Amino acid sequence: MNPLRLAIVPGDGIGVDVTREAVKILDAVAPGAAAFEKTFFPWSADHYLATGESLPKGAFDDLSAHYDAIFMGAFGDPRVPDMAHARDILLGARFVLDLYVNYRPVRCLAERLNPLKGVTASAIDFVIFRENTEGSYAGSGGNFKKGTPDEVALQEDISTRKGVERIVRHAFEFARQRGKTKVCMSDKSNAMRFVGDLWQRTFREVAADFPGIEATHLYVDALVMQMVKDPRQFEVVVTNNMFGDITTDLGAALQGGLGMAASGNIHPGRVSMFEPVHGSAPKYAGTGKANPFGAILTVALMLEHLELAEAARAVEAAVVACLEARECTADVGGGLTTEQAGDAVARRLSR
Ligand code: NAD
Ligand code: IPM
Ligand code: MN
Repeated sequence: MNPLRLAIVPGDGIGVDVTREAVKILDAVAPGAAAFEKTFFPWSADHYLATGESLPKGAFDDLSAHYDAIFMGAFGDPRVPDMAHARDILLGARFVLDLYVNYRPVRCLAERLNPLKGVTASAIDFVIFRENTEGSYAGSGGNFKKGTPDEVALQEDISTRKGVERIVRHAFEFARQRGKTKVCMSDKSNAMRFVGDLWQRTFREVAADFPGIEATHLYVDALVMQMVKDPRQFEVVVTNNMFGDITTDLGAALQGGLGMAASGNIHPGRVSMFEPVHGSAPKYAGTGKANPFGAILTVALMLEHLELAEAARAVEAAVVACLEARECTADVGGGLTTEQAGDAVARRLSR
């Protein structure tokens, strides 16, 4: 069997720290006959400041032609206040590779990580599908009379029929494949009439193709309230780019914090990109405080996507076992450094 080719972009800040541990886990799983051929890319704030270039021309063509999957750490550096490089690399990957599915599971893996009263950790178990290629992230807008008292700034929310339909359909297909019973669409159609109407109509039409699955709706303000009040009710949530960004940080808090949350940026059948939900947390960079479990659980999502389900389950089980034994960083109740926590997971995998 040919090795799977992985492109790895550690990025900035703790992205570098957690990616080192994620790579350690890839080396430890060695799933069956499959091995990984890893290529590291230096794209980051350092690289941008040194060369003036976020990433080379044709980089995404190269990634889609020559790799099976991409792993990214995190981007963001105070020396690049406008996030120019992060936009090019991270949003670039999502948009140029057309990774329209942002898959963000919300699962609480240990009771002590559960911040809610009256709900057990195992009841926090759903997924959020975030539309990943349009909405208010599309970059459409502009300034008028910039820098004057009459300044105008516009940021347009672009939803297309094709874009809405494919993410909604993906959510229903996922529900059907996983034996889930309901899909909840969340929007703000009571205030945002035009895109709201498109989401509402499209959701109803797609839902009609899935008669066995209950289609429900919550306005996004009600969704975040219900995520805290009664997360048990959720199985699959689908929403737009901006609401998906916001709700998945709350989702991270339900899992024990940003250090625990994993995500995939997927175009089914094409090269896809995997990254933890958290950012570069510059103040923690290089301190050994960053929790690598979000990145390691992201490796599990990537393995699942590469049809290495058994290896993916093994990685998850090793993380759960480490949490149970408090072999983890301080944010999740342990006393280990980033590196030691990664070693602990790797050790359990190679047993
Ligand atoms: P952040 O996720 O970097 O950090 C917020 C806080 O969450 C941290 O201060 C820390 O308390 C906690 N945290 C995050 N990751 C953790 C980990 N692995 N272990 C332990 N604790 C962790 O978000 P921010 O501070 O808002 O943003 C910092 C930079 O990262 C900004 O430049 C932002 O734009 C960028 N960002 C990038 C991504 C990405 O690359 N995917 C995502 C979010 C934010
Ligand atoms: C995320 C991040 C990014 C986003 C930022 C860094 C542009 O917050 O992946 O959740 O908003 O998508
Ligand atoms: Mn975010």
